[in-house]
Amino acid sequence: MTIHAPSTCVTAYADARAVLDEPQLVPEPAVVPDAPEGTLAWLRATVARFTGDACVHARRRARTVVELARLDPGELRQTAAGSPVGADDRHRVIRILAEALGLPGPDAVADAVITVAAGYFGGELTPSQVKAADEAVASLLARTAGADAEADPDAAAQRIGLLVQACDATARLVEHARRCAPDGLPPGGAGALLAQVLRHDPPVTALRRQALADIRVGTLDLQAGEVVLIDVTAAKPGATADPSDPDTGTDDEQAHLAFGAGPHRCPGQAQALALAAGLLERDDPAAQVTDAVARVLDLAGAVGRLGESADPEEQV
Ligand code: HEM
Repeated sequence: MTIHAPSTCVTAYADARAVLDEPQLVPEPAVVPDAPEGTLAWLRATVARFTGDACVHARRRARTVVELARLDPGELRQTAAGSPVGADDRHRVIRILAEALGLPGPDAVADAVITVAAGYFGGELTPSQVKAADEAVASLLARTAGADAEADPDAAAQRIGLLVQACDATARLVEHARRCAPDGLPPGGAGALLAQVLRHDPPVTALRRQALADIRVGTLDLQAGEVVLIDVTAAKPGATADPSDPDTGTDDEQAHLAFGAGPHRCPGQAQALALAAGLLERDDPAAQVTDAVARVLDLAGAVGRLGESADPEEQV
């Protein structure tokens, strides 16, 4: 696995957006010629996340989005809020997603995904770590491929990729939120806390892109092959280059780069926020009561509105 040292670090928001939106700047390719199917190298070469070719990426991402549509954020939040306390958050997150996707052996899926996540982003692995990761990918391929195992391993790779992407980032978001609010949720609840944490202490702090050609992007002149690193914490709208200046930005979740931007922007944001909110609410019984009351009031309001507008012809 070759990891190129970045030659440019981007801290200005406008440049960061320009880099992430530019199709000629792609995630560093993870292609290993002839990587056997069911290995970590095969997974990295097959998932949308590291696919630079725009057409292939669009096809793989579309498959991921179809899978994500099966994961209702409201249900994920409720399941997370009702989950037992004590397990590793990564394990809990993946177990919930695996169950929601109907995968067999959600505990085994979670164990395997955690093993794969250690090498998925391209760090150096020892031979025994590579072996463990390869075995874990093979077991996930068997569990996620379902009926189309022989026909379409590419589809199974997107399913595995979705789980691996969710693993560390979601657990780290929960960890950062607990660090920010050690005494429990603030008055605005989990949503407000997560918005603040994503802006000021994001779980993914660096994004990398490689130039496919010589190109000028924003204020940057890049040469083909050059690797650019985006500092996600620094590159947010309203932030100034001087750390002593007040940060004038808002907590608008669309504005910061915690979930990336451009063609590779995280498609799992709603699910990530739902899982993280549910786990934080699970830790805070007072929040669960408030949430339950809010849901009952919502329901009562909906029933009342139904009664008012009851038109015999609209009822079934
Ligand atoms: C707090 C939790 C999460 C954070 C902060 C996060 C952040 C990100 C970021 C920054 C990227 C873009 C990487 C890049 O542009 O180089 C990304 C990609 C991705 N994320 Fe997330 N993510 C989170 C959770 C999730 C979850 C829960 C899922 C799925 C259920 C998910 C699925 C994906 C996928 C499939 C991609 C690759 C998209 C593509 O390349 O087209 N993520 N994520």
